[in-house]
Amino acid sequence: MPEAQADIALIGLAVMGQNLILNMNDHGFTVVAYNRTVSKVDDFINNEAKGTKILGAHSLQEMAGLLKHPRRVMLMVKAGKAVDEFIESLLPVLEPGDIIIDGGNSLFEDTIRRTKYVESKGLLYIGTGVSGGEEGARRGPSIMPGGSPAAWPHVKPIFQAISAKVADGSPCCDWVGEGGAGHYVKMTHNGIEYGDMQLICEAYHLMKDGLGMTADEMHQVFADWNKGELDSYLIEITRDILAFKDTDGAPLVDKILDTAGQKGTGKWTVISSQDMGIPITLIAEAV
Ligand code: ATR
Repeated sequence: MPEAQADIALIGLAVMGQNLILNMNDHGFTVVAYNRTVSKVDDFINNEAKGTKILGAHSLQEMAGLLKHPRRVMLMVKAGKAVDEFIESLLPVLEPGDIIIDGGNSLFEDTIRRTKYVESKGLLYIGTGVSGGEEGARRGPSIMPGGSPAAWPHVKPIFQAISAKVADGSPCCDWVGEGGAGHYVKMTHNGIEYGDMQLICEAYHLMKDGLGMTADEMHQVFADWNKGELDSYLIEITRDILAFKDTDGAPLVDKILDTAGQKGTGKWTVISSQDMGIPITLIAEAV
């Protein structure tokens, strides 16, 4: 068996998980990859991870044996019961002092419960927001960790290396607080984005149905807005979406069904605001 050499393990080889692994590898860390459907480990090692230092594990035992101590194991799996199931399977292969990290979009109350549970077994827990989507995960996400404070010094060098950087070079990643604080901040951050999208949709609605503007005219307005104080990622992609043409030359946006789904973070933000008696009408409207 090879000696324990890896800096961190990452479980969950959907695109977010794969991209975080590749990002960690680029920053000089040795990562062990694992996935419930084990065939995806070999697929990843033989394709996206070819020519890198990334290691594949075919069982949790093998994964644990490859890790330096304290072991750091990050989950990038579907939020909900998959996280609880992996915590249960990890506890027997890990040791006191080892660290389990959940990087999915978990409900902060689950993270509070899991932090207490994992700490009661002598291990440490981090629940962290990871923002920026697939592209962010690959090139530099914003990372919002919370959980067991004693875990942070062990995770900090990796997370701050792979995170996005502000213009002055400081990392878009720092310790948020105990328990579910990291996931709470990620939830609120998503909630704010819901509000931002609601504003964009209302502006679009007024311009399209009130003023009768075409997609190209609205594109020009968003292009101008993006040069001023509204300069932002969401205004920028709205500008580009409005200019995008279908193969027949017509604006694609006019052919897209006027409907949207959600994964829950906006709704959770509103529920939390109601629990605290603080109105956040814009986010509620968006949900
Ligand atoms: P996607 O992000 O593509 O929608 P997903 O269903 O959210 O996919 O699953 C993302 C990751 O969570 C995958 O690594 C998936 O493992 P599989 O490749 O084996 O499907 C993992 N996952 C989802 N549900 C799981 C569960 N109940 N137990 C363990 N892993 C799970």
